[in-house]
Amino acid sequence: MEPNIFTTYMHSKKVFKGNKDILRPSYIPEQLPHREEYINELASIMVTALRGNRPSNVLIFGKTGTGKTAVVRYLEREVERLKRENADSQFQGEFQEFNVHRVNYVYINCEVVDTHYGVMKNIGNKFMSEWSEQIPFTGWPMEKVYESLKERIDEEPRVVVIILDELDKLVSKSGDTVLYHLSKINSELKQSKVSLIGISNHLKFTEFLDPRVRSRLGEEKLIFPPYNAEQLKDILTERVNKAFEAENIMDDDVIALCAALAAQEHGDARRALDLLRVATEIAEREHCEHVDTNHVYKAKNKIEQDCVREAVITLPTHSKLTMYAILLSRTNGHNKLTTGEVYAGYKEVCTVSGMDPLTQRRITDIISELDMLGLVNARVKSFGRRGRTKEIQPSVPEVDTISIIEQDETIIPVKKLRTFEDHQQMKLM
Ligand SMILES: Nc1ncnc2c1ncn2[C@@H]1O[C@H](COP(=O)(O)OP(=O)(O)O)[C@@H](O)[C@H]1O
Ligand SMILES: [Mg+2]
Repeated sequence: MEPNIFTTYMHSKKVFKGNKDILRPSYIPEQLPHREEYINELASIMVTALRGNRPSNVLIFGKTGTGKTAVVRYLEREVERLKRENADSQFQGEFQEFNVHRVNYVYINCEVVDTHYGVMKNIGNKFMSEWSEQIPFTGWPMEKVYESLKERIDEEPRVVVIILDELDKLVSKSGDTVLYHLSKINSELKQSKVSLIGISNHLKFTEFLDPRVRSRLGEEKLIFPPYNAEQLKDILTERVNKAFEAENIMDDDVIALCAALAAQEHGDARRALDLLRVATEIAEREHCEHVDTNHVYKAKNKIEQDCVREAVITLPTHSKLTMYAILLSRTNGHNKLTTGEVYAGYKEVCTVSGMDPLTQRRITDIISELDMLGLVNARVKSFGRRGRTKEIQPSVPEVDTISIIEQDETIIPVKKLRTFEDHQQMKLM
């Protein structure tokens, strides 16, 4: 057979036999080490539903990668399993009195579904299999969507557990109207009961809620702490054993290193798994038979670069222009910039690109935002009687980031500035 461009890659896949998808964040493992306590606590709240009563509403908080989504989806799967077993054999014991099939879980990721209408539509359609009866994507008045949702839920006695994951995203985008309605829906239902599980990465998000909504929603609260390095090691070890057929694919210190790096950040299991998965991919591409710590360091770089890329690409135009001015000054040999210098550079880039510059005050705010995103480092520096200013430095690789910014088509004219300057420099040399 003629060698094909893919042949080498297809061959390289064979190095680590197994299923790498198991290392992806979307995979929900059979066991969740170090979360047993929270699973039990949630199960003890949710068991009320299996008895036909309304469980308390729950708010779950915790930083990214602390297992919030994994835990609620794990419980959802357990309920489904119970239903299957119940279908096979006569259900025993105290749960006999209520049919477990009347317990319904509705999971919604509010990062994806982030409008009042969308959330209501998704819940309503969960109880409607006929395509022709579905609530349409848009077009119905809110009132009609809400009435239809209530009607559907209340058709027969059920307990509906609605999980709103990434709830802070919904609230910051669309406010708390949907929560207001959902949290008082029980007073309008005749035979069904609804309970809510809200999940948020930020503890403070409840400050943005109407006080009534806040108290109804937070009947129970759970806070998931970050994982430490030891715990991350357990999580990774279990996943690796499951993902690969052969043992000893990883050098001994690989898992420990991934765990340590992720623990340094904020105990993020997702980051730990990403490091491991990307390291494996790099090792595979290099046709190595083992994953070693060098692969992990390379993975760390790659992930960081991807993060920078993502952060820069999604910046609003004037933030990009500000970032661009900072990077260009740096490549022109300026080390630490004051706010005034950044502003001067920014105005210049604006002129060349034909845009009206914002005020210096706005640019000062933008610099703080860039600082928070980790793209620049802005330290307040005191100059004695002359007052205080900021010392601003990019904290990302300059040349790479410049080329990312230049991919923005509205910023093409700014390119001329650099070529113009290069030109000037060339002439001087
Ligand atoms: N205790 C755990 N055991 C096994 N895997 C876990 C555990 N906690 C988190 N994970 C895994 O880490 C990744 C991120 O977890 P996730 O539940 O999505 O975090 P969160 O929702 O808090 O941001 C997922 O792949 C998940 O399966
Ligand atoms: Mg999550």
